Amino acid sequence: MRNLLVTGGAGFIGSNFVRFMLERHPDYRIVVLDKLTYAGNLDNLKDVEERFGDRYAFVRGDICDAKVVEEAIHKHDVDTIVNFAAETHVDRSITEPDAFIRTDVYGTYVLLEAARKFGLERYHQVSTDEVYGDIPEGYRSKEDDPLRPRSPYSASKAGAEHLVHAYFTTHGVPITITRGSNNIGPYQYPEKVVPLFITNAIDDEPLPLYGDGMQKRDYQYVLDHCEGIETALLKGKPGEAYNLGTGVETPNIVMAKKILDLLGKPESLIRHVKDRPGHDRRYAMDVSKIEGLGWRSHHSFDEALEATVRWYLENEWWWRKIKGGAFKEYYRRQYAERLRGSGQA
Ligand code: NAD
Ligand code: DAU
Repeated sequence: MRNLLVTGGAGFIGSNFVRFMLERHPDYRIVVLDKLTYAGNLDNLKDVEERFGDRYAFVRGDICDAKVVEEAIHKHDVDTIVNFAAETHVDRSITEPDAFIRTDVYGTYVLLEAARKFGLERYHQVSTDEVYGDIPEGYRSKEDDPLRPRSPYSASKAGAEHLVHAYFTTHGVPITITRGSNNIGPYQYPEKVVPLFITNAIDDEPLPLYGDGMQKRDYQYVLDHCEGIETALLKGKPGEAYNLGTGVETPNIVMAKKILDLLGKPESLIRHVKDRPGHDRRYAMDVSKIEGLGWRSHHSFDEALEATVRWYLENEWWWRKIKGGAFKEYYRRQYAERLRGSGQA
């Protein structure tokens, strides 16, 4: 494993992964294939280009386009695909599901076909804890549990996973899968709750908290997630899926209050707004399988949140451009009516 094709590498986790792997493996080369949708951003990789020179290459392209995928594999002598490319925001999957089915399901199929055709050493699918669906209190999902996705986003990711398993069973493509929990950290697009709340709070704007705010998420630091993917790539068994999270859950309202506390802002900024349809109230995973490969989470929730708040405070150049652009219209559509009918915490 030396020449990696990282699809979706201009997004949040993908760009962190590219930097992480190039730092840790001086003999690796990485080619990023990314369509640069609204969520893809070359600013996320600016320093990578400067620091790693010809060990890094960028191709703008769609994973649904077999020709582009095959050309990238051939030209860069790729032996491994790590697939981050996806539509990723649950709220958008409710209002505009089309691109989710196309990229997350069909795009995965195109990559798997290429992995089969070129006889690649490894195909790794970056999946999510959301494929398990809403998890009852007291239980933690295990890798062999049935997939019960409940949003168009998680259904697309589960569909992709079924294809990945099928290519292992039917064609012997050496696949691995990681199912990650909610990531936080540098370069996360501010539609996701943590960067949305941090940047709104910095500007003294309201924090739109869905429903009662008692939904629980396992917020993990993005570099811990990247290290987990590295572990699955280097030590994982082909054909296997691995849960990847801290195993610690936090209610959204606690997360929101901690952000305000870190920024010295009042709790009156929290607004309870109309809930997300079909909202999964809890995700929780048993992560002992990946821990059995030697992986450990290095950041507690508090440490991850502090590092994330600090990064957004120090990198306004990055997020102000985004929030001042097309994001404004998205925010209006998603929140204007909700905020009109909202109540303070
Ligand atoms: P993101 O939305 O920040 O980035 C997605 C990237 O994929 C963007 O750069 C975008 O341009 C690219 N992309 C989208 N459609 C494409 C296409 N058709 N062809 C090529 N590129 C395309 O996403 P993220 O939060 O970094 O998530 C990355 C992966 O990790 C996704 O597969 C997601 O399902 C998974 N995941 C995310 C989280 C999380 O908390 N963010 C947790 C677990 C798993
Ligand atoms: O669990 C992993 C998943 O985490 C990834 O697979 C997804 O790609 C990623 O987007 C994320 O999904 P969530 O739906 O959990 O993330 P989001 O940041 O959208 O929401 C986190 C929680 O915060 C969720 O309970 C909904 C709530 N929320 C979200 C937004 C955007 C709010 O209360 N208000 C908001 O404005």
